[in-house]
Amino acid sequence: MPAVIRRTAFTLLLAAFSAAALAQAQKAPKTYEPSVGQEGKDVVWVPTPQVLVDKMLDMAKVTPGDFVMDLGSGDGRTVITAAKRGVPAMGIEYNPDMVELSKRNAEREGVAGRASFMKADLFETDFSKATVITMFLLPDINLKLRPKILDLKPGTRIVSNTFTMADWEPDQTATVDADCHSSWCTALLWIVPAKVGGSYKIAQGDLTLKQTFQKLSGTLRTEGKTLALEGKVNGEEIAFKAGGREYRGKVNGKTLELR
Ligand SMILES: C[S@@+](CC[C@H](N)C(=O)[O-])C[C@H]1O[C@@H](n2cnc3c(N)ncnc32)[C@H](O)[C@@H]1O
Repeated sequence: MPAVIRRTAFTLLLAAFSAAALAQAQKAPKTYEPSVGQEGKDVVWVPTPQVLVDKMLDMAKVTPGDFVMDLGSGDGRTVITAAKRGVPAMGIEYNPDMVELSKRNAEREGVAGRASFMKADLFETDFSKATVITMFLLPDINLKLRPKILDLKPGTRIVSNTFTMADWEPDQTATVDADCHSSWCTALLWIVPAKVGGSYKIAQGDLTLKQTFQKLSGTLRTEGKTLALEGKVNGEEIAFKAGGREYRGKVNGKTLELR
Protein backbone atom coordinates (compact mmCIF):
# COMPACT_ATOMS: atom_id res chain seq x y z
CA MET A 1 0.00 0.00 0.00
CA PRO A 2 1.45 3.42 -0.92
CA ALA A 3 2.64 5.45 2.06
CA VAL A 4 0.16 8.28 1.44
CA ILE A 5 -2.82 5.87 1.61
CA ARG A 6 -1.40 4.22 4.78
CA ARG A 7 -1.07 7.66 6.43
CA THR A 8 -4.62 8.66 5.47
CA ALA A 9 -6.05 5.35 6.75
CA PHE A 10 -4.16 5.77 10.04
CA THR A 11 -5.42 9.36 10.47
CA LEU A 12 -9.02 8.27 9.82
CA LEU A 13 -8.68 5.40 12.30
CA LEU A 14 -7.28 7.73 14.95
CA ALA A 15 -10.12 10.23 14.38
CA ALA A 16 -12.68 7.41 14.72
CA PHE A 17 -11.07 6.26 18.00
CA SER A 18 -10.99 9.83 19.37
CA ALA A 19 -14.66 10.37 18.50
CA ALA A 20 -15.60 7.08 20.20
CA ALA A 21 -13.56 7.99 23.31
CA LEU A 22 -15.19 11.43 23.46
CA ALA A 23 -18.70 9.94 23.14
CA GLN A 24 -17.86 7.46 25.94
CA ALA A 25 -16.60 10.26 28.21
CA GLN A 26 -19.75 12.28 27.56
CA LYS A 27 -21.91 9.28 28.45
CA ALA A 28 -20.10 8.52 31.73
CA PRO A 29 -21.96 10.10 34.71
CA LYS A 30 -20.14 13.16 35.98
CA THR A 31 -19.55 13.18 39.71
CA TYR A 32 -21.19 16.24 41.21
CA GLU A 33 -18.70 18.17 43.31
CA PRO A 34 -20.29 20.79 45.57
CA SER A 35 -18.19 23.80 46.53
CA VAL A 36 -18.18 25.35 49.97
CA GLY A 37 -20.14 28.60 49.91
CA GLN A 38 -22.27 27.67 46.91
CA GLU A 39 -25.71 29.26 46.75
CA GLY A 40 -28.61 27.54 48.46
CA LYS A 41 -32.24 28.63 48.50
CA ASP A 42 -32.06 30.47 51.84
CA VAL A 43 -28.58 29.56 53.08
CA VAL A 44 -25.32 28.76 51.29
CA TRP A 45 -23.78 25.32 51.68
CA VAL A 46 -21.05 25.07 54.31
CA PRO A 47 -20.57 21.62 55.81
CA THR A 48 -20.58 21.08 59.57
CA PRO A 49 -17.15 19.72 60.63
CA GLN A 50 -17.51 15.98 61.33
CA VAL A 51 -16.35 16.42 64.93
CA LEU A 52 -19.22 18.86 65.53
CA VAL A 53 -21.73 16.56 63.81
CA ASP A 54 -20.69 13.91 66.35
CA LYS A 55 -20.98 16.39 69.21
CA MET A 56 -24.44 17.54 68.09
CA LEU A 57 -25.74 13.98 68.04
CA ASP A 58 -24.09 13.28 71.41
CA MET A 59 -25.75 16.34 72.96
CA ALA A 60 -29.14 15.23 71.65
CA LYS A 61 -28.42 11.78 73.14
CA VAL A 62 -29.79 10.10 70.03
CA THR A 63 -30.86 6.47 70.29
CA PRO A 64 -32.23 4.02 67.71
CA GLY A 65 -35.70 4.93 69.01
CA ASP A 66 -35.32 8.49 67.71
CA PHE A 67 -36.08 9.96 64.33
CA VAL A 68 -33.57 12.63 63.33
CA MET A 69 -34.34 15.27 60.71
CA ASP A 70 -31.65 17.58 59.37
CA LEU A 71 -33.13 20.76 57.92
CA GLY A 72 -30.98 21.77 54.96
CA SER A 73 -29.01 18.55 54.89
CA GLY A 74 -26.23 19.50 52.42
CA ASP A 75 -24.12 16.46 51.52
CA GLY A 76 -26.02 14.33 54.04
CA ARG A 77 -23.28 14.00 56.66
CA THR A 78 -25.47 14.48 59.77
CA VAL A 79 -28.13 12.08 58.52
CA ILE A 80 -25.51 9.51 57.54
CA THR A 81 -23.72 9.83 60.90
CA ALA A 82 -27.01 9.31 62.76
CA ALA A 83 -27.82 6.31 60.55
CA LYS A 84 -24.39 4.82 61.31
CA ARG A 85 -25.38 4.99 65.00
CA GLY A 86 -28.46 2.92 64.16
CA VAL A 87 -30.80 5.94 64.24
CA PRO A 88 -33.30 6.44 61.42
CA ALA A 89 -32.74 9.86 59.89
CA MET A 90 -33.99 12.05 57.07
CA GLY A 91 -32.44 15.03 55.33
CA ILE A 92 -34.46 17.86 53.84
CA GLU A 93 -32.52 19.63 51.12
CA TYR A 94 -33.64 22.05 48.41
CA ASN A 95 -30.75 21.47 45.99
CA PRO A 96 -31.53 18.32 43.95
CA ASP A 97 -27.84 17.69 43.16
CA MET A 98 -27.06 17.66 46.90
CA VAL A 99 -29.94 15.25 47.46
CA GLU A 100 -28.56 12.85 44.86
CA LEU A 101 -25.04 13.26 46.26
CA SER A 102 -26.34 12.47 49.77
CA LYS A 103 -28.10 9.35 48.52
CA ARG A 104 -24.87 8.16 46.86
CA ASN A 105 -22.92 8.93 50.05
CA ALA A 106 -25.43 6.97 52.17
CA GLU A 107 -25.24 4.06 49.73
CA ARG A 108 -21.43 4.11 49.86
CA GLU A 109 -21.49 4.12 53.68
CA GLY A 110 -23.93 1.19 53.71
CA VAL A 111 -26.72 3.04 55.56
CA ALA A 112 -29.15 3.83 52.73
CA GLY A 113 -31.80 1.76 54.53
CA ARG A 114 -31.86 4.13 57.51
CA ALA A 115 -30.86 7.41 55.82
CA SER A 116 -33.35 9.04 53.51
CA PHE A 117 -33.27 12.36 51.70
CA MET A 118 -36.07 14.51 50.39
CA LYS A 119 -35.80 17.34 47.89
CA ALA A 120 -37.95 19.93 49.61
CA ASP A 121 -38.11 23.42 51.03
CA LEU A 122 -37.62 23.23 54.78
CA PHE A 123 -40.25 25.95 55.26
CA GLU A 124 -42.86 23.74 53.61
CA THR A 125 -41.88 20.51 55.31
CA ASP A 126 -43.78 18.83 58.10
CA PHE A 127 -41.12 17.90 60.65
CA SER A 128 -43.54 17.01 63.45
CA LYS A 129 -42.47 13.33 63.33
CA ALA A 130 -38.89 14.21 64.30
CA THR A 131 -37.76 13.56 67.85
CA VAL A 132 -34.44 15.27 67.11
CA ILE A 133 -33.90 18.16 64.70
CA THR A 134 -30.44 19.22 63.59
CA MET A 135 -29.70 22.36 61.63
CA PHE A 136 -26.99 24.67 60.40
CA LEU A 137 -28.99 27.55 59.01
CA LEU A 138 -28.97 31.22 60.06
CA PRO A 139 -30.30 33.12 63.11
CA ASP A 140 -33.20 34.69 61.20
CA ILE A 141 -34.21 31.33 59.73
CA ASN A 142 -34.06 29.71 63.17
CA LEU A 143 -36.30 32.50 64.41
CA LYS A 144 -38.77 31.98 61.57
CA LEU A 145 -38.90 28.26 62.38
CA ARG A 146 -39.21 28.86 66.13
CA PRO A 147 -43.03 28.94 66.44
CA LYS A 148 -43.27 25.62 64.57
CA ILE A 149 -40.48 24.17 66.73
CA LEU A 150 -42.16 25.29 69.97
CA ASP A 151 -45.30 23.45 68.87
CA LEU A 152 -43.44 20.15 68.51
CA LYS A 153 -43.96 17.38 71.02
CA PRO A 154 -42.45 18.38 74.41
CA GLY A 155 -39.06 16.76 74.80
CA THR A 156 -38.10 17.07 71.12
CA ARG A 157 -34.42 18.01 70.97
CA ILE A 158 -33.18 20.73 68.62
CA VAL A 159 -29.47 21.05 67.93
CA SER A 160 -28.05 23.94 65.95
CA ASN A 161 -24.56 24.47 64.64
CA THR A 162 -23.53 27.90 66.02
CA PHE A 163 -26.71 29.89 65.40
CA THR A 164 -29.09 30.90 68.15
CA MET A 165 -32.84 31.07 68.56
CA ALA A 166 -32.94 34.77 69.65
CA ASP A 167 -34.28 35.14 73.22
CA TRP A 168 -34.99 31.40 73.57
CA GLU A 169 -31.75 30.53 75.34
CA PRO A 170 -30.24 27.10 74.72
CA ASP A 171 -30.46 24.44 77.45
CA GLN A 172 -26.86 23.49 76.68
CA THR A 173 -23.93 24.86 74.67
CA ALA A 174 -20.70 23.08 73.86
CA THR A 175 -17.67 24.02 71.80
CA VAL A 176 -15.30 21.45 70.37
CA ASP A 177 -11.68 22.50 70.01
CA ALA A 178 -9.84 19.39 68.93
CA ASP A 179 -10.09 18.55 65.22
CA CYS A 180 -12.45 21.42 64.50
CA HIS A 181 -10.51 23.47 61.97
CA SER A 182 -13.30 25.86 61.15
CA SER A 183 -15.31 28.77 62.52
CA TRP A 184 -18.26 26.44 63.08
CA CYS A 185 -17.40 24.49 66.22
CA THR A 186 -20.20 25.32 68.67
CA ALA A 187 -23.37 23.32 69.17
CA LEU A 188 -26.49 24.56 70.93
CA LEU A 189 -29.23 22.32 72.29
CA TRP A 190 -32.84 23.20 73.09
CA ILE A 191 -35.43 20.84 74.53
CA VAL A 192 -38.96 21.73 73.50
CA PRO A 193 -40.76 22.63 76.73
CA ALA A 194 -44.35 21.61 77.49
CA LYS A 195 -46.69 24.57 77.76
CA VAL A 196 -47.25 24.73 81.52
CA GLY A 197 -48.06 28.39 82.22
CA GLY A 198 -51.28 28.82 84.21
CA SER A 199 -52.88 28.25 87.61
CA TYR A 200 -53.21 24.84 89.26
CA LYS A 201 -54.84 23.55 92.44
CA ILE A 202 -52.46 20.92 93.74
CA ALA A 203 -52.15 18.91 96.93
CA GLN A 204 -49.60 21.44 98.28
CA GLY A 205 -51.83 24.52 97.63
CA ASP A 206 -52.30 26.95 94.75
CA LEU A 207 -49.62 27.08 92.10
CA THR A 208 -49.30 29.86 89.52
CA LEU A 209 -46.71 29.35 86.82
CA LYS A 210 -45.50 32.02 84.44
CA GLN A 211 -43.51 30.51 81.59
CA THR A 212 -40.96 32.09 79.28
CA PHE A 213 -39.78 29.26 77.00
CA GLN A 214 -38.18 26.78 79.45
CA LYS A 215 -37.95 29.24 82.36
CA LEU A 216 -40.54 29.36 85.13
CA SER A 217 -41.44 31.98 87.68
CA GLY A 218 -44.62 32.47 89.70
CA THR A 219 -45.97 31.69 93.15
CA LEU A 220 -46.88 28.78 95.35
CA ARG A 221 -49.50 29.55 97.98
CA THR A 222 -49.12 26.97 100.68
CA GLU A 223 -49.81 26.82 104.48
CA GLY A 224 -51.12 30.42 104.44
CA LYS A 225 -47.96 31.81 102.80
CA THR A 226 -47.36 32.98 99.22
CA LEU A 227 -43.88 31.93 98.11
CA ALA A 228 -42.12 33.18 94.99
CA LEU A 229 -40.77 30.41 92.79
CA GLU A 230 -38.09 30.00 90.12
CA GLY A 231 -37.69 26.95 87.98
CA LYS A 232 -37.39 25.21 84.65
CA VAL A 233 -39.32 22.99 82.26
CA ASN A 234 -37.50 20.08 80.65
CA GLY A 235 -39.85 18.48 78.14
CA GLU A 236 -42.80 17.44 80.32
CA GLU A 237 -40.83 17.60 83.56
CA ILE A 238 -40.87 20.68 85.75
CA ALA A 239 -38.60 21.60 88.63
CA PHE A 240 -38.71 24.72 90.80
CA LYS A 241 -37.60 26.13 94.14
CA ALA A 242 -39.96 27.95 96.51
CA GLY A 243 -39.44 28.85 100.15
CA GLY A 244 -36.08 27.04 100.22
CA ARG A 245 -37.67 23.76 99.05
CA GLU A 246 -37.27 21.97 95.75
CA TYR A 247 -40.26 20.64 93.90
CA ARG A 248 -40.35 18.34 90.90
CA GLY A 249 -43.29 17.28 88.84
CA LYS A 250 -44.73 16.32 85.55
CA VAL A 251 -47.35 17.74 83.27
CA ASN A 252 -49.99 15.29 82.25
CA GLY A 253 -52.28 16.88 79.71
CA LYS A 254 -53.91 19.73 81.64
CA THR A 255 -52.96 18.40 85.07
CA LEU A 256 -49.72 18.89 86.93
CA GLU A 257 -48.52 16.52 89.60
CA LEU A 258 -45.76 17.41 92.02
CA ARG A 259 -43.63 14.77 93.65
C1 LIG B 1 -24.96 25.62 55.91
S1 LIG B 1 -25.51 24.27 54.93
C2 LIG B 1 -25.63 22.96 56.14
C3 LIG B 1 -25.56 21.57 55.55
C4 LIG B 1 -25.66 20.42 56.55
N1 LIG B 1 -26.81 20.52 57.40
C5 LIG B 1 -24.43 20.39 57.42
O1 LIG B 1 -24.53 20.75 58.60
O2 LIG B 1 -23.36 20.00 56.93
C6 LIG B 1 -27.23 24.70 54.63
C7 LIG B 1 -27.93 23.80 53.61
O3 LIG B 1 -29.31 24.20 53.55
C8 LIG B 1 -29.76 24.10 52.21
N2 LIG B 1 -30.93 24.98 52.08
C9 LIG B 1 -30.95 26.34 52.01
N3 LIG B 1 -32.21 26.80 51.99
C10 LIG B 1 -33.03 25.72 52.05
C11 LIG B 1 -34.44 25.53 52.07
N4 LIG B 1 -35.28 26.56 52.03
N5 LIG B 1 -34.92 24.28 52.14
C12 LIG B 1 -34.08 23.20 52.20
N6 LIG B 1 -32.74 23.32 52.17
C13 LIG B 1 -32.21 24.55 52.11
C14 LIG B 1 -28.55 24.54 51.39
O4 LIG B 1 -28.65 24.07 50.06
C15 LIG B 1 -27.41 23.91 52.18
O5 LIG B 1 -27.10 22.62 51.71
